[in-house]
Amino acid sequence: MATLTLENVTKKFGKKVIAVNNFSLKVQNKEFLVLLGPSGCGKTTAMRMVAGLEEVTEGRIYISNKDITDLPPRKRNVSMIFQNYAVWPHMTVYDNIAYALKLKRMSKDKIDEIVNDVSKLTKINPLLERYPAQLSGGQQQRVAVARAIAVSPEVFLMDEPLSNLDAKLRVSMRTELKAIHDETNATTVFVTHDQSEAMSMADRIVIMKDGEVIQVGTPDDVYHHSASLFVADFIGTPPTNFLEVSIKSKNGNVRLANSHVDFILDPTTAAPLKRYSKQKLILGIRPENISLVSADKALLSAKCLVSEPQGSHQIIAIQLDDKILKIVAPPEPKFVAGDPVHIAFKHEKLRFFDPETTLAIDN
Ligand SMILES: Nc1ncnc2c1ncn2[C@@H]1O[C@H](COP(=O)(O)OP(=O)(O)OP(=O)(O)O)[C@@H](O)[C@H]1O
Ligand SMILES: [Mg+2]
Repeated sequence: MATLTLENVTKKFGKKVIAVNNFSLKVQNKEFLVLLGPSGCGKTTAMRMVAGLEEVTEGRIYISNKDITDLPPRKRNVSMIFQNYAVWPHMTVYDNIAYALKLKRMSKDKIDEIVNDVSKLTKINPLLERYPAQLSGGQQQRVAVARAIAVSPEVFLMDEPLSNLDAKLRVSMRTELKAIHDETNATTVFVTHDQSEAMSMADRIVIMKDGEVIQVGTPDDVYHHSASLFVADFIGTPPTNFLEVSIKSKNGNVRLANSHVDFILDPTTAAPLKRYSKQKLILGIRPENISLVSADKALLSAKCLVSEPQGSHQIIAIQLDDKILKIVAPPEPKFVAGDPVHIAFKHEKLRFFDPETTLAIDN
């Protein structure tokens, strides 16, 4: 049973680099929380401070009610696994897992029992006598996971543990890590810069940018109610399409227009936009919320630039000035370059962003 709390944590390297800036977060007991953000946004630094491998510049860190900010790593009851496995090459798999348990002066029988349990859970029990060099990348990563959970940590940190694996193995290891979490129930923070990994694994996602928390929410929250342009762009493949539009409110109607579109919004979607009359906003629409329609019902018509078949669907791209708009469409009929594409937007799925602040307008 443990919660992990970071309270206004800041990390500066020298005077110039602020790697983590006033970062606050509470990870619930047994939660699987994913820290997501682009390269260099401070994810690893945040985790290293929790593990005690990096001193905090300001702020406090707690596990449950205990302030661990100044404790050495071994006294924190935190396990961390890294991108590059870091299993010990000169030890067998068994000894890799048993090492920390031996330091705790556990009996041989107890150690055998734990190694047996965690190696079954991570499916490496037939490999206990091998050395890391005799294992595949995926197997080495399982050893790292087994070693980390063997000590029954209260908090389990995983820093991009799957990024060295090939695409297919990555996807199957996601499922396995989640299953291991469901067995061990350790409060977990999983770091990735891969949004689809985050979406598929997280109870909640924390989106970071430039050392700061941008949004915290369930995968559905951050996908459907992205708090800013950055989040709407970062989450989802293909990402959200953005169009700048002028808002005109007249006779109770809200009209959106630019050089490509001109339409009246459904009244329910329109209500919060009335106060933006005569202003410009950024409209965000996800590719799957654009429908193909007949020419007479089209909000916009353009020529297909390219279509990417994906088996279950196709991604059609059209060009609007210097922008490319992407549409997720049924796999048939197949579009080829030059075909006319007639589209309409699902009004209830439109999102709007303030071009100045880049923040979402809650509609
Ligand atoms: N020891 C250090 N000295 C100086 N700057 C550092 C140090 N460690 C990290 N940084 C800087 O702090 C920022 C955050 O780095 P960090 O490694 O936490 O990013 P990250 O989100 O883990 O990125 P990635 O996804 O590439 O792993 C970066 O600008 C990095 O250059
Ligand atoms: Mg990192």
